Order: sequence, then structure tokens, then C-alpha cells
Amino acid sequence: MKIAVAGTGYVGLVTGVCLAEKGHTVSCVDIDERKVSLMNSGVSPIYEPGLQELMGKNMEKLHFTTNYQEAYRDADVIFIGVGTPEKQDGSANLAYVYSAAEQIAQCIEKDCVVVIKSTVPVGTNDKIEDFIKSHLAHPVNVYVASNPEFLSQGTAVRDTLYTSRIVIGVEEPIAGDTLQEVYKDFKAPVIVTNRKSAEMIKYASNDFLALKISFINEIANLCEIIGANVDDVALGMGYDSRIGNRFLNSGIGYGGSCFPKDTKALHWLANFHDYELKTIKAAIDVNENQKLKLIKKSRKYFDSLKGVNVAVLGLTFKPGTDDLREAPSLVNIPLMIEDGANVKAWDPVGINNFKKIQPENITYCESIEDTLEEADICFIFTEWDEVKDFDLSKYSKLMRKPIVLDGRNCYDLSSARKANIIYDSIGRETINSLETTLVNR
Ligand code: UDX
Repeated sequence: MKIAVAGTGYVGLVTGVCLAEKGHTVSCVDIDERKVSLMNSGVSPIYEPGLQELMGKNMEKLHFTTNYQEAYRDADVIFIGVGTPEKQDGSANLAYVYSAAEQIAQCIEKDCVVVIKSTVPVGTNDKIEDFIKSHLAHPVNVYVASNPEFLSQGTAVRDTLYTSRIVIGVEEPIAGDTLQEVYKDFKAPVIVTNRKSAEMIKYASNDFLALKISFINEIANLCEIIGANVDDVALGMGYDSRIGNRFLNSGIGYGGSCFPKDTKALHWLANFHDYELKTIKAAIDVNENQKLKLIKKSRKYFDSLKGVNVAVLGLTFKPGTDDLREAPSLVNIPLMIEDGANVKAWDPVGINNFKKIQPENITYCESIEDTLEEADICFIFTEWDEVKDFDLSKYSKLMRKPIVLDGRNCYDLSSARKANIIYDSIGRETINSLETTLVNR
């Protein structure tokens, strides 16, 4: 099948490359010429494990272009995988989707199925179909189908090739048959439904996971107050298969390009229809507070961070990605700087992106050791393997005051008890294993 993909971000590029891997000929369209020439030379513009290798393997079936006319003209299927960022009021910005739809309408010269992969508000597929039909330059039949993706950053290739399900939202059987043909070599359950239900499956799935995280974070906060251990609580809950053990890791809140945006967008949509989604509202509120959890904890040790040497480990919203969108570091580091802290930060892949936002008043370090040298307090924002594997005893050797605030519960408490540190994590007892009091150090 001849496939075109609009957008070469996490969704578009990964979709295009994985469809090529399954034997399709794929043209990926992007407006950015520099990005397109980079991709044509076999280089991925985004950091995603396995993507570059899979691109290299399938370059004969992949074509990257800024020339959308050429890509769309005779495509059997056109995927729209452009961004739908959050607007000021929490609703989704559909400008990129509409712009792709307009280009498609102007270019298609044969019947085709336009597939919306981007996460869009319920009802958008209907509107896009009407929009394309009313802007067509040639008399062709066009069918719009909703086909949400469920990939996570950092495991996007695996999540796409071995997807948990394929959701197809269509109003006419011909569009459903075409998509089933596209996915015939993927081994996953296929759910064929109408477009609105498909759109809702995506929001409901993401918002449920966000809710699960906010739920365990609230339980963690209560565990701290009453002296329970949230990791054990989550473990005990997770053995119940109705609950499941995944997405029960408490921490300093969820970030990324999906959960924050999709919770707000669904809440906005419900409000728009005079309905309040109380559970989603709670998930959002809990998350906003949770992001400030470590900075609030730091008040136990310092009245203010003025003149305090702060070490930050991890900048990205989660490990395995260089993406900073909605990362807790983005809220916390400016507060520390405003407070007068001397901030040193380390991240294995996120520093270049963070520098674009915060070029000054922060020292970027190449190693965890350099970051911790002479620090008075350490904040862990991302559970990178390098952090989890870092010898806990080194904190007290390197830091001036070994106070470790761990927003991702990277270490077990028994190790912290032997490490000569103050170790304050999420939803667990604070460990003070200092051999001498801090004032005497
Ligand atoms: C998410 C969904 O998982 C994916 O299905 C959807 O298509 C896009 O949104 P992603 O944003 O890449 O994927 O990351 P994910 O691994 O889901 O993590 C999101 C955030 O939740 C991260 O900040 C992570 O640290 C946090 N999280 C996740 C927790 O705090 N606890 C958990 O137990 C799991």
C-alpha cells in the first residue's frame, strides 16, 4: 500500500518507520527542510531507542519530503500524526491538524482514507471529514478514520510494533477494511467502532492512567503522614489483577506530552458540555501539587535556598527520552534559582534542551559526581538507571551536607540506612543515617 504520513514527531515518524518495517511504502511529510534532509540521510531527529536502526533498515521503503503534493497525490492511506498542543484554556490546539487536512484536500487525486492518529477531541474526526470534503480540489471519495496511538516515549517503537490493541473508528466499512489491511501483519486485538468512541478510547485510557498515578501519589502523601510505606502498599495492591501492578509508582507527578494535556482537554470538553469530570479534575489538582513536593520538603532542612548548593539529578519528564515537556524540573529549577540557590544539574540526554529554556544561572555537569561535589542538598527528579545504579555511599563522600530528596524512590530504605545520609523520598519514612550531625560536618 502507498502510505503518506503528515508530521514526523514521536507519533508520525514512529508510525511511518514501523509501517515501512511491515512492508509498506511510506512518504513522511514535514515542513522543516533541515529535518527532512537529516531523515533522508538516515538520521532520526528525535531520541527514541531503536528508531534510528529501524529507519536505517527500511530506508528503501521510506521517503522523507517537504513536498506534500507529491506524497498525498496518489496515496491509498494518509496518516495525520501532527501535534495537538494545549491551548491557554486547556483545550486542544487543532491548527496543525486542520492545516494538514487542507493540504490533503488540495492534493488528493484518487479515493483515499485519511487516518487521524493525533489525539483529538471527541467529534474532531467528523469535523475533519466535512472540512476535507468541502475543500477538495478533485472529485474523489475521502473517508476519515480515527486510529489513536498508545505509544510511550522511550518505548515508542516497541509499543507500535507490538501494540496492545489496534483501535479503528470509522463510519463506513470501506475505511475499516482499508485500515485492517494496513495492519494485517500486526498481531494485536482489533477494535472496530465508530469514530467518537475511538477518540474517547484514547482520552479515557490516558486519563485513567493519569488518575491511577495521582491516586497512588495521594496514598503516598498519606503514607508519609501515618508512617506507612507506599512501595509496599503498591506492591500489595498490584497483586490483585483487577488493579494491576503497573502505573502505581508514586513520585513527583506525571509529566510529558500526553497526560497533562489529555486530562485538561477531556476536562475542558466535559465542561463545555456542562458536565464536570470530578475524578479527572482531582487527578489534575493532585498532580500540580505533587510537582512541588520536593521543594516543600526542602523547607524541613533550609528556611530558604539562598546561597545553598543544590544538585539536581534528572531533567526530563521520565527516563529514556530527552523530552522536557511538563517535566517537574521545569517548575522546580526556576523556583530554586529565584530563591537564590546555586544550582548544578545533570541529565544524560536532556541538558541541551534544558539549556534552551534556562541558559544561565545554572551549571550543567557531565557526571553525577561533579553535580554532587560540595552540594548541600540533592533533588532527584528522574529515575535514570545511572541514578538508580549510583552507589548511595558516594553521596556522603561528595556532598557538603548529604541531604537527598528523592522524587522517584530510586533507592531502597535498607541501603539508605547504611549510607550516612538524610534520605527523604515519596510516601516512605525519612531515613537519617548520618554518623555526625550536620552542623558539625
Ligand atoms: C503516555 C501513555 O503511557 C501512552 O500510552 C500514550 O500514548 C502517551 O502518554 P508517555 O507520556 O510517553 O506515554 O509516558 P509514560 O511512561 O506513560 O509516563 C508519563 C508520566 O507518568 C511520566 O512523567 C512518568 O514519570 C509518570 N509515571 C508513570 C509515574 O509517575 N508513575 C508511574 O507509575 C508511571
